[in-house]
Parts: sequence; structure tokens; C-alpha cells
Amino acid sequence: MRILFLGDIVGGASVDMVVRLVPTLKAGGRIDAVIANAENAAAGSGLASSQFRALTQAGVDLLTLGDHALRKREIVPILENDRRICRPANLAPRCPGNDLAVTTLPGGIRLAAFCVLGRTFMKPAECPLEAIDRLLARAESEADIVVADLHAEATAEKLLLGRHLDGKVAAALGTHTHVPTADHCLLPLGTAYQTDVGMCGPHDGVLGRQTEAVLRTTRSGLSEPWPLATGDLRLNGAIVEIELGKRRATAIEPFSAREP
Ligand SMILES: [Fe+2]
Ligand SMILES: [Fe+2]
Repeated sequence: MRILFLGDIVGGASVDMVVRLVPTLKAGGRIDAVIANAENAAAGSGLASSQFRALTQAGVDLLTLGDHALRKREIVPILENDRRICRPANLAPRCPGNDLAVTTLPGGIRLAAFCVLGRTFMKPAECPLEAIDRLLARAESEADIVVADLHAEATAEKLLLGRHLDGKVAAALGTHTHVPTADHCLLPLGTAYQTDVGMCGPHDGVLGRQTEAVLRTTRSGLSEPWPLATGDLRLNGAIVEIELGKRRATAIEPFSAREP
């Protein structure tokens, strides 16, 4: 079975592109399930409830989030009640919302996803290793296939988390830095890994934001809103092939799509 994992969806235009392309990809038989990180969907920060509905209706099976998870407060009731989405598992202990997303695919296969935040060059978070160990104990009984979203800034931290997850999940895939890395591989014990799968967003800018605004802030030190870029919309991610009975991966390939 083949799972498409999409990196950070940035902005409404990118949500619309995912909504347009996912049904075709699924209908064509190229992929069986889709997991997407949607932390930047709402104008670059957070996820609107209408976007959650649009993505799930289009065939995105599970959604993960990141450091911008709770920017849109309206997502909290969905995080608490809909099992198809999770917020990072190592936020404050009383943070609302599911930390393990689970769904049952056609054929009865139970697919789960979770995300953890890194702690290097990021806001304070609980230990991601402890969160992973806690989730794995649950995921073992709740799912047949588990995918981990490593939402972190530092390469070394993502690699460490990936190595820790080797043999324990089908895939451990990085998000947050928005630029795909060239290190997709199968780790020794069968977990598919990539330090960052890239973003689904406008590439004619700086990680999804308009270059000129970022330049002005960098030169002046004066903060200002950074509007989203608009050009060169692309979806980036990875396709992971999974051996069902063994819960491990047999292949990983980068995924990238643009519209004519
Ligand atoms: Fe992020
Ligand atoms: Fe992001």
C-alpha cells in the first residue's frame, strides 16, 4: 500500500490545489491514503475549520499540525472531537486536542499519524522522545500503520528522532523547514525517513512568504505582516510504500506536483 505524505500546506491557494489534486491521485490508483501537515493553511498560520472540512472531503485521510497548530482557535473543537487530526504531542500537558490521529481505510486497515515538535531553535516544548514513547505504546494497539511527522528546525534533531523511531513506525518524515532534503531513505530497521519533505505552497518567495516584506524586516528590524507569496505553487511530499503485515516501509520516493 502506498501513502502520500504532504508537507506543510501554506495558505488557501495551496489548500485548493490539494483539494483539486488528491481525488485524481487517489482515483488513478497511484496512492491509497493521504496524510498532510496543515499547520500553515490559514493564511500561513493555523488551520481553519472550513479548510479541515475541505481537505478531508477531498480525500486527505489524516492531518497533522506543527508549532502553528493553535493559531486558529476555531480548530480546537475539531481537535478534541475528530480523530482524523492531531496537534503536536509534546505541547503543554493541558493543551486541548488529540495527539494521535487515527482512521480506518477501505479494507479495514487502521492508519495512524502523530507529530512532535523539535526543541532546537524553536519555542519551548516537552521532550519529543518521551512523547514518542508514550504514543507508540498506544499506536501499537490502535493502528496497523503508523506515520510520524517530525516537525522541527534542526537536521540533527530530526535525524535523532528518526533513528529512535526506526523499526517502530512505517515512516518518520520531517516538516517545518519547508524545503525538501535529498536524504530520503529506508533506515536499517525498515522505517522510511526524510529530514524534510518540503511544503505545499508558493515557492516564489521565502518559505511561502513574499520576498520583499521579509527583506524589509531583515534590513530594518521593524516587524510587519509578511503576506503569502503567490507564484510557483507546488505540492511537495513523499510517497511511502508499506508492507502491510510487517508495518514497515519497502520504499520511499519524493513527491512533487505542479499544475500546468
Ligand atoms: Fe512549523
Ligand atoms: Fe510550516
